Amino acid sequence: MTAADTAAELLSVAREAASAACTLVHTNRPDSLSVSTKSTATDHVTDMDRASEALIREVIADRRPDDAVVGEEEGGDAALSGVTWWVDPIDGTTNYVYDHPGYAVSVAAWVDGTPTAAVVEDPTHARTYWATAGGGAFCNGHRLVLGDPPPLAQMLVATGFGYEARRRRAQGQVVAELLGEVRDIRRMGAAAVDLCSVASGRVDAYFEVGLSRWDLAAGMLVAAEAGATVESIEGGPPRAESVLACHPGRIDELRGLLVGLGAHRV
Ligand code: IPD
Ligand code: CA
Repeated sequence: MTAADTAAELLSVAREAASAACTLVHTNRPDSLSVSTKSTATDHVTDMDRASEALIREVIADRRPDDAVVGEEEGGDAALSGVTWWVDPIDGTTNYVYDHPGYAVSVAAWVDGTPTAAVVEDPTHARTYWATAGGGAFCNGHRLVLGDPPPLAQMLVATGFGYEARRRRAQGQVVAELLGEVRDIRRMGAAAVDLCSVASGRVDAYFEVGLSRWDLAAGMLVAAEAGATVESIEGGPPRAESVLACHPGRIDELRGLLVGLGAHRV
């Protein structure tokens, strides 16, 4: 099997799993949710997050029984080599709880630690994004290619905030300063979708600290395959702890601004 064949096979599993999960959580959304909390009183998890992950795991186990799976709700261990699936069964759970558009199901397959196939399905906007390493990024079948970036002062920059009060205050201070330097900011509520929004040109850049690997694992491949540079805010490979996605022609300038504001240290 060539690398492209492997990526195509992984992509078809990811698409099947994400589609089944979106039918469950979105099309068949129950009238009432059972909601509990995780890391803080505002970090929600619902019965549908758990059911979505269970369903995604079933699809993967059926088609790829030997692969490792790591998911937000059930955990798991990444494989030292071979395929690891990174699953966020609902990214943007706060949006989901409030029935606010813009949550997503995010499924990525990494091979030997390299993002290889990715699906982010945003059912409230009827958008399915996918990408394979070297095979390009797509939304509903249309190829995504980044256009020329605007000057820094005209950039629309997406970001997100963590669940812990001290960090959120610090993130708010960074954003207060940033607002005077760029066109505007957006806080949509799902990191996976934010990365796909960079890929689609709906924002010009995205940065955040304090994510988990499953929030990023699919969206970062979509953004990169559309032509964005995806790194950590301070430079170097992206980490869940620090991510910046932007057109390669503008990333150094934006990084200079964000590092100057201490965005990577909150
Ligand atoms: C959250 C979303 C949000 C981001 C948070 C994440 P979750 O994921 O991606 O946009 O700002 O940092 O934790 O908890 O809804 O899966
Ligand atoms: Ca989640």
